Amino acid sequence: MAIFGKDEAKAAVQLDHTLLPRHVAIIMDGNGRWAQRRGMPRTFGHKAGVEALREIIQYSDELGIEALTIYAFSAENWKRSAEEVGALMGLLLEYFTKELEELHKKNVRIRILGDIDGMPQGLERQKSALHAAIERTKDNTGLQLGIALNYGGQQEILHAAQRLAKRAADGEIAPEAIDKAMFEKELYTNGMPDVDFLIRTSGEMRLSNFLLYQLAYAEFYNTDTLWPDFDRKAYDQALLSYAKRNRRFGGV
Ligand code: IPE
Ligand code: IPE
Ligand code: MG
Repeated sequence: MAIFGKDEAKAAVQLDHTLLPRHVAIIMDGNGRWAQRRGMPRTFGHKAGVEALREIIQYSDELGIEALTIYAFSAENWKRSAEEVGALMGLLLEYFTKELEELHKKNVRIRILGDIDGMPQGLERQKSALHAAIERTKDNTGLQLGIALNYGGQQEILHAAQRLAKRAADGEIAPEAIDKAMFEKELYTNGMPDVDFLIRTSGEMRLSNFLLYQLAYAEFYNTDTLWPDFDRKAYDQALLSYAKRNRRFGGV
């Protein structure tokens, strides 16, 4: 049952800025099923998913959300067919080629979370487009847009541990000096606020190796809506749900 109507939902979050999450993370799931329900190939769903993403980035910026991290491609998604992976990588390149200047004008800072250089050979254009987007927007002060790509939460934590272990073995730091702040500096999200709110579309109730460290105290929101159908109204509903949460962080 909706307690507030759609406009009230928007008003509620806009009225009190303190009720908005600072950092929203989204597992954009359900593109394939969205397409299959229409008797179309999965890649058709990915195209529609990019449109939904464009709108949600735009809306996040309008609402004044500080950071938005989206799961675009996991380290495990390489298991998919060459055709699907190829289509996704094509869309990625197209997205950065088309949208970069627009995002830059909006003062958006693009961050890539994941192992860019570890992407398979043959994706050199994608790799350079990603590096160019980071470089072009690095001084921007508006929305921080984290794009998780070739990303795995376990891999991220392991890499952080390896780098710190190496520094300790080199005598640069003492093992006992490794604290939360030092560890967090080694994560892709370094400098971003803690994740407050995690949205997953399409009804799946799992993390799929997303931001395992960073989600420690995030609020979860799950909706059956498939990603290509996730629009401003659906986002309003999610944000309203967040605004009504009572976050305790272990307290009472
Ligand atoms: C999410 O949609 C997009 C990516 C993983 C890139 P899916 O492609 O996982 O769609 P479903 O879950 O198969 O419907
Ligand atoms: C998670 O979705 C990855 C992205 C949204 C990019 P998946 O569709 O890959 O997750 P599983 O396989 O259902 O756990
Ligand atoms: Mg999926």
